[in-house]
Formats: sequence, structure tokens, C-alpha cells
Amino acid sequence: MKNYLVHDEWKIIEEGFHPEFNRISESIFSLGNGRMGGRGNFEEKYSGSTLQGNYIAGVYYPDKTRVGWWKNGYPEYFAKVLNAANWIGIDIEIDGETLDLAKMEIESFSRVMDMQKGTLERTVVATFKSGKKVKITSLRFLSIVAPEIGAISYTLEPLNFDSTLKISPYVDFDVENEDSNYDEKFWVAQHSEISKNEGYITALTKKTEFLVCSGMKYDVFLNDAPVQPEYEEKLEKMFISSTFGVDVQKNSRITIQKYGVNISSEYFPKDELLAASKKILSKAYTKGFNSLLSEHTNAWMVKWETSDIKVDGDVAAQQGIRFNIFQLNQTYTGEDERLNIGPKGFTGEKYGGTTYWDTEAFCLPFYLATAEQKVARNLLIYRYKHLQKAIENAAKLGFKNGAALYPMVTINGEECHNEWEITFEEIHRNGEIAFAIYDYIRYSGDWDYLAQYGFEVLLGISRFWCQRVNWSEHKQKYVMLGVTGPNEYENNVNNNWHTNNLAVWTLKYTLEVIQYLKYRHPQEYKEITSKSNFVETSETQQWKDIVEKMYFPWDETRQIFLQQDDFLDKDLTPAAEINPAERPISQHWSWDRILRSPYIKQADVLQSIYLFEDRYDKEFIERHFDFYEPLTVHESSLSSCVHTILAARIGRPEKAYEMYLRTARLDLDDYNNDTCDGLHITSMGGAWMAFVIGFGGMRVSENMLSLNPFIPESWKSYSFKIKFRGVLLEIIVSHGVVEIINHSEADLMVDLLENIVTLNRNSSTIFENKENQLP
Ligand code: BGC
Repeated sequence: MKNYLVHDEWKIIEEGFHPEFNRISESIFSLGNGRMGGRGNFEEKYSGSTLQGNYIAGVYYPDKTRVGWWKNGYPEYFAKVLNAANWIGIDIEIDGETLDLAKMEIESFSRVMDMQKGTLERTVVATFKSGKKVKITSLRFLSIVAPEIGAISYTLEPLNFDSTLKISPYVDFDVENEDSNYDEKFWVAQHSEISKNEGYITALTKKTEFLVCSGMKYDVFLNDAPVQPEYEEKLEKMFISSTFGVDVQKNSRITIQKYGVNISSEYFPKDELLAASKKILSKAYTKGFNSLLSEHTNAWMVKWETSDIKVDGDVAAQQGIRFNIFQLNQTYTGEDERLNIGPKGFTGEKYGGTTYWDTEAFCLPFYLATAEQKVARNLLIYRYKHLQKAIENAAKLGFKNGAALYPMVTINGEECHNEWEITFEEIHRNGEIAFAIYDYIRYSGDWDYLAQYGFEVLLGISRFWCQRVNWSEHKQKYVMLGVTGPNEYENNVNNNWHTNNLAVWTLKYTLEVIQYLKYRHPQEYKEITSKSNFVETSETQQWKDIVEKMYFPWDETRQIFLQQDDFLDKDLTPAAEINPAERPISQHWSWDRILRSPYIKQADVLQSIYLFEDRYDKEFIERHFDFYEPLTVHESSLSSCVHTILAARIGRPEKAYEMYLRTARLDLDDYNNDTCDGLHITSMGGAWMAFVIGFGGMRVSENMLSLNPFIPESWKSYSFKIKFRGVLLEIIVSHGVVEIINHSEADLMVDLLENIVTLNRNSSTIFENKENQLP
């Protein structure tokens, strides 16, 4: 765990330069706007440890799979999120010395991300070997109003010398991925041009043939007055720059305002891409830096209006949750149903593909409650569009009759993960995709979704479960063999409780949906069943049999469900007894030792209890929590959020708070020693869930929203906003009091602290809540 960032409510601040943590900072200070993003790299050259990263949404490369031992059924490739052009670069040279913070003495340094405004700022005072001292101030943003545009204002001040500065703004497309399987470059040059202060490069991805155009245009100012320098252009196939010299006196200020454009052929026909880039860049350039910045910051204000969470009395907790909300909103805007939320978003290369079960299980609730309904709907439609590929994927593994197995990892619907124990066995993902349909409808009330898209997906998944289980003569029950649950520190186990649970739930839910569709949408139902060759009675008969006779591992003595068969044969020494120097165990122990150990990477049984919580009473949850929590090492970012929610549910405020901080500050404090690879974007949805579902006690059942908030002892108050069925609510919780403001034109009935109350339109209602310090 690191602790080098300053705690602040709205800002992430690195005060003083920490070259040893530079890759971590680059991840943390990443900017994005849903269509592109980039790590917090410096504009000028940096020869220290760095991972240069700029990424364009939806653009990927199918990197040929590299495994030691090929297994039939493996996908041919692993889809890589591609490192794209470095458009931020500005090289500086002063009397033959290159500005490079790795080689200079740094007097002061601060890197600040203002989450309220969506900007990244850096102020540095550094001295060259020659003794010349400069001040650098840079301000950068990726516009959320014009999502193809980024802008930088970069100022240099010579503090103790007069000289001629040589400045080279550039675009470099000659980039590679650090995680390339065969050390190949993935881009092929198509066109480049540079004229004075403006230039473009277009490049094509190998195999997938995405065309991307990246361009720049810049202005120069001396002490705020525009300068028209002489430009010296450099034109290569994958690199363009235009260098100028400028005479500066001590304490004068030279500013470069650089605008960047990045567009892919996902948004324009290939033959129009260059012209479109020029047009869009020219529009931004004409608007100017300050106008672009103010429309961008205003748009952030609007986003924060519906998604902010405020904490009074705990800056670390406040900063953590805002950081998560900020990064989620930077990653996915929901305007394009072809896009999804990658575990690393636009902040690093690791984890190819973009879509894991993380989206449905951990991100959907955030977008459901804070964004327009179409945003969550688009996340679901993404999977609907991949249904055919999921059916092909299942067929490849030997399943028949329209059974669908969604990929563990994908960009375009095809599986691109290749570890057999995960690709073939971590099939709980199918259940979470089905559950997300239920979750979406439960929250939004959009029942029509079932007839339009939902049922076909549920049918494919139910058919898969039906074929994936087998009848055990020995147990006289259905069993599910050879699976990996969410806890990836166990592989190839039998009867993972969570997976069996999801399978049975999906079958039951699909059976209910069939009845609903037959009654409410008979025409659509008929069309879908004929298109899918669904022979109702013969198929549903077997589903019902599975629902009735599924096997669930259970320990009679402890009265708990077991994570999988034979779990109790393990040496159940609590994780607290592991030598702290050996944590995280994934970085210290052999895989063999991990597999034999009882340690749980991430919530597994507890994940199921969280999903199906309304089935269980407090004592049941407590028994399971007390058995599994001490064995959980939370080495997946997706774990502590579920533990927060359940700890809150059973009245363990200290545990809930500890788990909340772990999830909300996972990257800021680098809990798992891996933030250098990129941020854990999908787990940020989990942090939001930990807050709103955990502390806020938000649930939805039978068309009604319920709230049962509690407040950690050290906080003065907190508040969050959620949209429910068109009504925007602000929930303000302090010790002993809950205030709810209904900001909408419609009344809403809710279950508050187990009483049904009406929240009148445009008004505030105050409730006493004596219990809310200890639920
Ligand atoms: C977790 C998976 C998750 C993946 C991507 C892994 O470490 O165990 O559950 O889907 O990361 O976030």
C-alpha cells in the first residue's frame, strides 16, 4: 500500500516528484472522455520509467494467441487494446540540452487532477546540468463536449537565463504495445502531412483494419501575445513535428496551446477520415483553448449534478468515491452501444479485450442510477448484439441447439481469453449477464426490453445451463462439474455454489419471462420462438427438473453452503495468519500452493448471497460472512465491494468501513501493488455499489425503491443522488436523521427504513433514524 498522494475532496494531488511511482501516477492521472483516453504521461521527453499510453475506444488488434500448450477450443487471438498515437508530445531543447525530468534536478513538482473540472495540471521547477532553471506549467484535458479533441496549454519560463528555446510539438504514431505477444507493431502507416503548425497522420491497424487519424495544430504566445515563428517541419511516415525557435528573456513566458484530434473509422468512412479530422480540429482551433475548456468544465458540472457523492468528515473517503465516479464517467458515456467498459478503461494495456462479466456485475448499477436509462440499456444491447457469436462460441465447445456461452473476455463478441480454467470454466459470467437483464428491468421498469432483446439472450443462456449440468446417479441430483467460480484461486472444481445458484436462477427467471411474454407480447413471443426453434414444453420440462433437483454443497454442522465440493478438506487457517510479507499471495506463492490453500481471491459464495440477498435472513448471512470473510484475501479488485455491502447489511460498521476504503481507494493507495499497469475501472462501479447499496442501503424490489442508510461513526454526514423511474432523489444522511429531496415533478413512493412513505415532488422530507449508526 502506498500513501504518497495528498488527500483532497476534489483533487488528486502528487506533491513533489516520485519517479519510483511514476507509472502508478501515470495510471492515476489518466484522462478520458468515453471515446479516447490517455495515461498521465508528460508532454516533454521523459527517459525514466514510463508507460506511454493513448487509447481510442473500440480500436483493437487481435494479437495471435501465445500459449505453451494449445487446447482445442482456444481462441486464435487475444484482442489487445491498442496503444495509439502520442499526440500530446512537445519536445524542448535549450542550448543543446533536452528537457527531461529524469535528468534534471527537480526543485518543485506538483501534478493535480481536478475531478470537478476534468483537467490535469502540472507545475514543475527544474534545473538542467548547465544550471539553467525553468518553470513548466501545463494544463491538459480531453473534451467531453467534442470527444475527438484534446487540448494542452504548456508554458515555459526561464527563471535564471536568457536563451533561444527550441520547441517541437509532434504527433508520433510509431508506437507499440508493451504487452505485444510477438513484439510486433500493430499499426501500418497510410498517410502523413505537416505544414507549419498543423499536421496529420493516418494509420491502419493490421488485420482489423481500423483507420485512425491523429492530428495537431498549435499556437505560440510570448507573455500572452501571439507569436508567428518560423517553422521547421519534419515529415516521416509515422512521425510529424514542426519545430520553432524563440528568443526568451529571464522570467518571460512562452506558451504553446496545442490541440489534438483523434478519430477512428468507426465514426467516419475511411475515405473521409482525414477531411473530417481537419474539419473537427479546425473548429476546435477556431473556438480556442479557453472556450473549449469552459464548455468542457461546464459539461463536467452537469455530470456531477446527478452523480456526485458527498462525504462530510472524511477527506480520504470523499476523495476515493469521487475518483471512482470520475473515472467511470471518463470511461463510458453510453452513447455508443458498440462500446463497453474495460477493466483498465483508457489507463493501461493489461487485460486485453474490453468486456468482462465485470460490466454486468459491478458497473451496471452505477449507470442505472446516475445516468440516462439508455446508457444502461446500451450496455445490455451490446450483449444482445453478440448473441450469435456467443452461440457460435458454445457450439465450438460442443453445445447444441442455440445454447449461448458469452465470452469471458471480448471486444467484438468473440472469445479472446485463453487460459482453459477461465475461458472454458469460468462460466458464471453467463449467469451474471442474465441477472443484469433482471436487474435492469427491476430498476427501470422497462419490461418491453424482454420482448425486444432480453428473452433471446435468456433463452440462449438457459439452453447452455441445461446442457452444462449432468445428472448424477450417485447423488440423484443435477451437478455442474469442472468449473471455476469468481474465486480464481480455485480451478476445475465441482459444484461451485455460486455457479449452480446462477444456473438455477436463470432457468427459473426464463420460465417466468416466458409466461409474461405469452400473456403480454404473444406476437413477439411467437416470432422469437420460431426464429430460435424453441419447442417450449420439451425444453422447459427439463429446465423445471433441473430447478427442482439441482445439487448445492451444504455443511450441516455449520449450516452453510460450501463454495464447492470438498471445500472443508482444506486447512482453514484464517488469512490474518499469513505472513504480511507474503501478501499479496499471488505475487509470492506458487500457483500450486495457492490452489491448495483455502484463500479466496474474491467474493464467491458471498457474491451469490449479495445477488440473492432477499432470500436469506440476517443470521444466514452472518454465518456465511463469518466463515468466508476470514479466508478472503481480496486480491481481486472486485471483492471488497461485496464484503462492504454484506457487512453493512449485518450491522458490522467497522468492517463495512474498512472494506469500503479498500475498494474506494484501491488505486489511489495501490492496495494490490498493480496500479502501475492501469486503474481498476470496473471495480470502481463496485466502489459506488459499496457506498450506495452498502451505506445507503439501497435496494429495489417489486417496483419499489427502498433505502436503509447507516453512517460510519467518524463521518458527519454524506449524501448521494440517484435517479429512479424518472425521479431524481438526493439522500442526505447524518447521525439520527435522513433527509430526502425529491428534485422532480413527480411524487414517488419509497420504502424508507421499513416504512412506506411518499416523497412529494420538489420537496424535502426529513426522517428520524435513531438506528442508523448500527443497522
Ligand atoms: C478477476 C476477474 C475479473 C478480471 C477483470 C480478475 O482478476 O478475478 O473476476 O473479471 O480480473 O477485472
